[in-house]
Amino acid sequence: MIETIATTPFEGQRPGTSGLRKKTPVFQTPGYLENFVQSIFDSLEGFEGATLVLGGDGRFFNREAIQVVLKMALANGFGKILVGRGGILSTPAASHLIRKFSAFGGVVLSASHNPGGPHGDFGIKYNSANGGPAPEKVTEAIFERTKAISRYRILQTADVDLDRTGSLRLGPGAVEIIDPVADYAQLMQQLFDFDRIAGLFKSGFRLRFDAMSAVTGPYAARIFQDLLGAPAGSVLNAKPLPDFGGHHPDPNLVHARHLYDLAMTADGPDLCAASDGDGDRNLIIGRGRFVTPSDSLAILAANAHLAPGYAGGLKGIARSMPTSRAADKVAEKLGVPLFETPTGWKFFGNLLDAGLATICGEESAGTGSDHVREKDGLWAILLWLNVLAVRGESIDAIVTKHWADYGRNFYARYDYEEVEADGANALIKALRDALPGLKGKHYGALRIDAADDFAYHDPVDGSDSTHQGIRIHFEDGGRIVYRLSGTGTAGATLRVYIERFEPDPARQDQETATALGDLIGLSNEIAGIAKFTGRTAPSVIT
Ligand code: G6P
Ligand code: ZN
Repeated sequence: MIETIATTPFEGQRPGTSGLRKKTPVFQTPGYLENFVQSIFDSLEGFEGATLVLGGDGRFFNREAIQVVLKMALANGFGKILVGRGGILSTPAASHLIRKFSAFGGVVLSASHNPGGPHGDFGIKYNSANGGPAPEKVTEAIFERTKAISRYRILQTADVDLDRTGSLRLGPGAVEIIDPVADYAQLMQQLFDFDRIAGLFKSGFRLRFDAMSAVTGPYAARIFQDLLGAPAGSVLNAKPLPDFGGHHPDPNLVHARHLYDLAMTADGPDLCAASDGDGDRNLIIGRGRFVTPSDSLAILAANAHLAPGYAGGLKGIARSMPTSRAADKVAEKLGVPLFETPTGWKFFGNLLDAGLATICGEESAGTGSDHVREKDGLWAILLWLNVLAVRGESIDAIVTKHWADYGRNFYARYDYEEVEADGANALIKALRDALPGLKGKHYGALRIDAADDFAYHDPVDGSDSTHQGIRIHFEDGGRIVYRLSGTGTAGATLRVYIERFEPDPARQDQETATALGDLIGLSNEIAGIAKFTGRTAPSVIT
C-alpha cells in the first residue's frame, strides 16, 4: 500500500560536489532522508515504469537507507529497482549498471572517502541515465524542492531481503537483487587483456591492494585473485564493514601510509594500490615510487593504447583545472584536444557523452574513461597492470622515462581543513579583488604572468560555471591555485595547489618540497593564509 506522509523542509539539503553529505545522525533524523529522496523524484520527469539502480558502499545506515529508497522509488512510480546484493554497489559499478540496463538513473548511498559509522558521515547522490552524477541544474532543482517539500510517498511493506539474489514483486513494481560484481567484472574483461595480466602475476609480479574495509573488497578479490590469479593475500581488508574497521577510507599518503612504507622497502610489492569508500578513487605506488594522481593520468593517457579497450587511440583528454598540466603535454604529443574543467567529475560527463574525450582525471585521486561516467579506482589499477604487463618494466622506470620524454610537473596540494568558513571566504574574496593588480608583479625571481578566477564554458551544452578557483601563473611555468573544497562536512577547507614544470631530466629527481620551495612560501604570502585562517601550517599535504 502506498502511503503519503506529511513532512516539513529541513535546512541545508543542498548537494555539494558529489551529492548530499552530512553526519550520519543527521541522515537518521526521521524524515531527513525521505525528504531528500522525495525531492530527487519530484525533480525528475518521465520515470513511470522505468528502472532505478540502487546500492551503496556498505557504510553504517546503508541497509536501512536502501530499504527506504526502494520503497519510496516504487511508491513514486518506478517499475523496477535493481539492487546490489547486500546493498553493495561501488560507484563505478552503479554507473555501469545504469548504462548497461538502460536504467532511468541510479541512487548511490555513500560519503565516498569520508569515515563512516554512527558518528561518521553518510551521503546520497543521484546519477542520471548516462550513468554520471546529476548535472548542476538537476541538483539545484532538487535543492529548491527540499525547501518546499510538504509530503513524501512510501510503500508500506516488510523489508526486502537484500542478501538473496533474484526478483520479487513489490507493491506496484519489482525488485531485483543482483550480484554487485559480475557485470562490472565482465566490462573490465572487455577493456583489458586479462590473459596478459594473468601472465604477469604468474611470472611473480606482486600486488598489494587495500580495499580499506570498504566497497571494493568483493570486486578486487574476484578480479585480482579469482580471475587474474593473483595469490591469496594480494587483497587486504576485503570485507566491507559498516565502520570501515574504524579506518578512514581515503587512499592517500596519510590514511594509506602503510602501503607507502611497504612499497618503499627494497623487497616490497611491485604495485601497492588502494581505493576509497565507494571505489572511485585510486592510489598507485610502485616499488620505490609514488605516482601522483596527476602523473598517473598523464602516463595512463600516454600508454592507454596498449590495452585492448583503447587500442584505437584517444579522442581527447580531460582534467580538472587544479590537476597538474602533465596531461596537457601528452595531449599535445598525441595531437588530441585537452579539456580543462572545474573540479567535480560531473563536468566530464558531457565531454564523454559527446565523444570529445576518452580519458579523464583529477588531482584528487580520480581517473577514468568513457567506459562509465564516474571515476573508477579498479579500472585505473587494471590499466596500470595492463601497461606493466605489456611494457615489462617497473613503475619507477615507466615514470622516470615519462618525465624524461615530457618533462616533470612537480606538484603538491596543501589542505587547510576545517577552518572557519568566514575567514576562508574572506581569503578568496580578497584574492579575487586583488586579481586585476597581480599581473606583472614580482616576488623575488618570480613574476606573475597571468591571474584569474577560473570560469568554464561547457562546449557541449553551452553552460557557464564561474568562480571555480583562483589561478596564478608565473612566467617560468609555475602555478598556484586556490579554491575551497566542495565536499567537506564541517567548516571550510582551503586547498592550495602548487605546480612547477621541470624539463631537465638532471633536475627531475629532486624532492617535491625542494623543487616547489619558492612557490610554497609565496602561496602564503600572496593569499595571507595565516592572516585569514589563523593557520601557519596545512593539515595535510598530498
Ligand atoms: C569528489 C568528486 C571529485 C572531486 C573531489 C574533490 O571526489 O567526485 O570530482 O575532485 O571530490 O572535491 P573538493 O571539492 O573537496 O576538492
Ligand atoms: Zn569516492
